[in-house]
Amino acid sequence: MALHLENLTKRFGKAGPLAVDDLSLEIEDGKVLVLVGESGCGKTTTLKMINRLIEPSSGTVWIGKDGSRVDTCLLDPVVLRRSIGFVFQEDGLFPHMTVAANVGITPSLLGWTTDRIDARTAELLKLVHLDPEQFAKRLPADLSGGQRQRVGFARALAAGPSVLLLDEPFGALDPLTRDHLQIEFQELQRKLGFTAVLVTHDMAEALLLGDRIAVLRDGKIIAEGTPRDLLQLGPSQGDADRAYVDDLLATPRRSAQRLEHLIRSGENPA
Ligand SMILES: Nc1ncnc2c1ncn2[C@@H]1O[C@H](COP(=O)(O)OP(=O)(O)OP(=O)(O)O)[C@@H](O)[C@H]1O
Ligand SMILES: [Mg+2]
Repeated sequence: MALHLENLTKRFGKAGPLAVDDLSLEIEDGKVLVLVGESGCGKTTTLKMINRLIEPSSGTVWIGKDGSRVDTCLLDPVVLRRSIGFVFQEDGLFPHMTVAANVGITPSLLGWTTDRIDARTAELLKLVHLDPEQFAKRLPADLSGGQRQRVGFARALAAGPSVLLLDEPFGALDPLTRDHLQIEFQELQRKLGFTAVLVTHDMAEALLLGDRIAVLRDGKIIAEGTPRDLLQLGPSQGDADRAYVDDLLATPRRSAQRLEHLIRSGENPA
């Protein structure tokens, strides 16, 4: 499914500031768009407007395939949400429900038979590298952070969504687990071919995972393009938004240069 966000705006309350300000974006079918920006810039609000967990103040979210598309506000939000997987910031699992029940929640809401739900749950747990025998009956509290996040992925994929929304899915993990899960996410996305919108505040993650990246600042998109486009932006020449994007890029770029130097010369750069 392709997504088209058109002039999306969100103001919480009558006189509050704009959390999202006239944001337009196109996400092609089967591609990964990464939304990046600092805390409070409107990332989660944008993601939640896509599946109507938050209603926009104005603007439209279109969803479609092969040239035909529908305005999501004409769809039943519950039906829409069941067709779009959501991986929440902080895993968002139901703490009183087992791993299997968490993963099977959407299929059971869709009225699948118990046998079909059980088979699907086992298949998904294997897909995210959790042994069903070992994990299906556990509660979320009895898992590590990385395992909980894997269950969150499995749950989001349960009904075979063609769109996956991921809100800082790797944010709270140690670097090694994050690295594993990033690779697993890429493999899953290539294998299953869903369209993804992934939110992060980590520019290195954005560059590694995005087909395209949109940089948000104060609810507005200030840069958008492929990772290469962003890395090849010239000097900011006094433009404050460009300087901001440069700042975001400086850390991963410097780390990459230092590592390259280390590999080539065997010595840390001064
Ligand atoms: N329900 C709400 N009522 C009022 N203001 C809200 C509400 N939800 C979000 N906001 C405000 O909207 C702005 C954008 O919030 P949002 O959660 O989208 O940020 P974010 O980019 O996801 O940040 P973070 O990286 O910290 O998760 C913030 O200023 C926030 O305080
Ligand atoms: Mg957020």
